[in-house]
Order: sequence, then structure tokens, then C-alpha cells
Amino acid sequence: MSVPVLVAVAWPYASGSRHLGHLAGAYLPADVFARQQRIVGNEVLMVSGSDVHGTPITVRADAEGVTPSVIVDRYHNEFVRQWEELGFSWDLFTTTGTENHARVTQEMFLAQLQNGHIDRRVSEQYYDATADRFLPDRYIEGTCPHCGYTEARGDQCDDCGQTLDALDLGDPRSKISGAVPERRETEHFYFRYSDFTEQLAEIYKDKSHWRPHVLNFVLGYIREGLLDRAITRDIEWGIELPVDDLGPGKRIYVWYDAVIGYLSASKEWSAQQGDDEAWRHWWENDDSRHVYFIGKDNIPFHCLFWPAQLIGAGNLHLPDDVPANQYVTFKGGKASASRGVGLTIDEGLALFEPDGLRYALAANFPEQADTEVSIESIARRINEELVATWGNLVNRVLSMLHNNHGVQPPSEDRTAEDQALLDTVEETLAVCGQLFERVELRGALRTAMAGAQAINTYLNATEPWKLAKSDAQRSATVLATALDAINCIRVGLAPFLPFSSARLDEILGPLDGWSTRPVPPGTEIPKPTPLFTKVDIDAIQVS
Ligand code: MF3
Ligand code: ZN
Repeated sequence: MSVPVLVAVAWPYASGSRHLGHLAGAYLPADVFARQQRIVGNEVLMVSGSDVHGTPITVRADAEGVTPSVIVDRYHNEFVRQWEELGFSWDLFTTTGTENHARVTQEMFLAQLQNGHIDRRVSEQYYDATADRFLPDRYIEGTCPHCGYTEARGDQCDDCGQTLDALDLGDPRSKISGAVPERRETEHFYFRYSDFTEQLAEIYKDKSHWRPHVLNFVLGYIREGLLDRAITRDIEWGIELPVDDLGPGKRIYVWYDAVIGYLSASKEWSAQQGDDEAWRHWWENDDSRHVYFIGKDNIPFHCLFWPAQLIGAGNLHLPDDVPANQYVTFKGGKASASRGVGLTIDEGLALFEPDGLRYALAANFPEQADTEVSIESIARRINEELVATWGNLVNRVLSMLHNNHGVQPPSEDRTAEDQALLDTVEETLAVCGQLFERVELRGALRTAMAGAQAINTYLNATEPWKLAKSDAQRSATVLATALDAINCIRVGLAPFLPFSSARLDEILGPLDGWSTRPVPPGTEIPKPTPLFTKVDIDAIQVS
């Protein structure tokens, strides 16, 4: 049965280059999962886009003395180019700057206002008297009240992941002037997240299959009870309010609008398909499955606030799984775009071919704990695992078949050893598929690679290169068996390695579901070229 699967991917801030931590944390796992689900035969809708609002963008624009749209265009274009180079299979990668997104956001706001989940409140906010303006979110920094981190931002602490109210920061300072800010009254719309604490507690009773670190974080939050939060800001850059009660200079808060992108992008995609109602198949359907790919700093927004916004607006499908990743670290520190720690995606692509980079990051996805990445470790994984175990195997078998037969020969008189290999790889593919269903992508990759290793072991035991002289028929059967096994394992590796997989498809034919069939005898085997290039470790700058 084909399941409608929404692959919802965190929207990168178009405020700077993204790094390999972002890639391994959210975007690449999503593409790998989406590709696998398409092979299985599910109806995948994979959407995301650039997150173009809020203070991450305006802080950068201020620093460069340009308008926010200059920043947004620069990085959005960079992302689109990188997705292409990485072989990403988006159904839609848009931005939150579209008219469609503004309309969908305003409609949701009005629905929640109507339903009584949004109200108006006057509160104090920090104000920079020198710059004559309020200091929302990232315009203010100070000490985190939860963990003591001294560079916490007004909206969230980068160290412990807690979402913050700027007024709770210790030692607050303005990012614009460095001044100690004063407090002034201002009026904002609030979303009554506290209305949903009980409903969310109920929902999280049956999420025991979720990653423990995600579930624990969420349950901790629910135990404390959700707090109502302002969903507007004193800022000029953002989506306009659909009501004018607050007067000028107020915009919708970036985190309120960004998560709505999943829905607005689904609608934009529908319109592009020429069927304005198509999105309902994913969003108004109990049988669909929504999987969100995010980094762990995004957990409260996706697991608590977004579900509350969805329930508050009406009858829309809630997240089924949020397999948030932990962090990728470089030399022990969390990769950070704003602090310049770690390789950018472009730096990674300049050093490694896309399948190699995808492989090395996927083999080390931070699914359960933070994982350390370095140029050297990526290079070693490519050479010692991808090239040594898979690339050389494929090349060796295809070369011998090409040279000795030119085609896939018939397998005559298969032995128990031959059959054992075929049983092993089929079992491997099945296990790999089960791991994918649980979004254990690292395990799925390790499993597929173990299958490749089993084929190497079989070849080392049977030595078809020697048999070619002594027993041509047996040699043919061994090589044909090895190719049938490769044909099976390539299914499991295909979601990770789109470029080399496409080249194998040219020889072995397109994949046919998450299963395998023997390569038909007589299939032409052209002279192969290596699937991957070995990384010259001495030539790359190891830092
Ligand atoms: N822009 C945010 C970040 O980079 C992620 C937003 S995800 C969304 O951390 F769903 F809210 F858009
Ligand atoms: Zn903290």
C-alpha cells in the first residue's frame, strides 16, 4: 500500500552559508529518507525553503549595511545551487518570502484568533535608547538563566537549547550599540500555547518509538507547562499582520511564520501541479505520515509550538515523527555558522565529490549523540569504506565480467556457497529497509555496507580470477552470482549515493521497489569506469 509521506525539512536561515553540521543534521538525512521512501513506492512530498524573516537576517543586513533582501537573495541562491550539486531531490524548495506563504500565515493567524487562541497583551521589552528602537530576539545577548552560558541570545540559548524570554537574561546588552538596554512597554499578539499543554501531553503518551533525547526534551517541557508567547515583534522585516489593531512597526515573529512553511510550501507545490487541492492528501489525511528533519535546537518549535498552532487552526495532520539529530562537532566544538566553526557546505564540496561527502556524513549522522567530523575523517571514510568496500567491488566484478564475457553469463549449478551469499544480501536489504522505517539511517547504511563486505568475502573465498583459467563455467557462475548480489545491495545504497547509483542504473536497469531480482543473463556489461575517485589525502589541506 502506498502511503503519502511528508518529508518536512528545517528551513535554513538565509542569513549566511550553512555548514556541514546543518547538512548532516537536517538536510541530508531528509534527502536520504525521501529517496528511500520513493523507492519503496510511497507518495513522497519533500518540501522546505529559505527562512527569510526575523533578526538572523536583519542583524546580518545591518552588519553589512545592505537591505535584508540583498542578504536573503544571496544565500537563497547559494542554497539552491548547493542542493543541485549535492543531488537533492526536493519536490519544492521555496522561501518564506512568497505571497503564498504570507497569505497562508495570515489565514492561520486569523483562524487561531477566531478560535480564541490568540490575544493581545502589553509587556515590557528591552529598548535601546541610543539606537531608538526595540531589541527583539537576536538584537540582545546576555547570560542564560538556565545554564549560565554568557552568549545566550534573546530568543534561545545556543548552549542548552532552551527557548528564552529576553527579560530573563542576566547582564543584557544591545547588539546594536553594546549599551545596557532599558525596559519599555509595548503591545503584542500572544499565542496561548498554554491552552495546549494537556492535549500535547496526551499526544506524547504514545511516542515511545521516538528518539529518547527528543522525547525526553519534549516531556520535560510539557511537565513545566507551555507558556504563552508573543508572536509579533517590533521590527520592520517580517510578514504583516492581517489585522491593524497594534498600529505600525509590528510584524509577525519569524518562528511563528517559518513552521507554517511546511503547509504553505505544500500548497505552493499543489498549485504548481495544477491541482490546488493536492496538499490535502498529505495534510487532511489520517493515513499520511509526516516526518520532520531538524537539528536538536529546533525541537521545541517543531514538537510543541507547531503542533499547538496546527491544533489551534483546525484539523491538520500533526507530526508523526521528529527524528531530530544532535550536533556535529569540529575539534570538539559545535559547528556554528555565526561563529565560523566548521566547514561550510561549499568548502566540503570543494574537497570531496558529492557521493563521497554524502557517504561520510551519513556514516556519522549524529542520531543519538553529538559526532565529531574532520576533513581527515571524511577522507578516510571515503577511501577506506566507500572506495575500498563498494567502489572497488563493483569495478572489479564489472571489469571481469566485461573482459571475460561482455555480458551477464547464465549461472549454472549454483553451490550452497553461492546461494548463501544471495540469501545474505536479501536478508541485508530487508533489515536495511526496516532500519529506514525507523529513520535509523546510520544503521541502514552500515547494514548495506556489511552486505557489500559479504560479497567481498565471497569473492576472496571463491577467487573467480583464478577459476577463469581452470574452470571457466564455475568462474562465470561466481561472477554472475556476485553481480546479482551487487544488484541487491545497490538498492540499499541508492538513497545515500544518487550520482553513482544513476550510473549503475544505466548498466543494471532502474530499481524496481525495495527488492531485487537477478540480472538477466545476456545483459550487456560495458567496460566500467570507477564509481568514485580516491581522495588524495596528502593533497588536501588537513587542518
Ligand atoms: N531557520 C531555522 C534554523 O535554521 C529553522 C526553521 S525550521 C522552520 O534554525 F520550520 F521553522 F522553518
Ligand atoms: Zn542555556
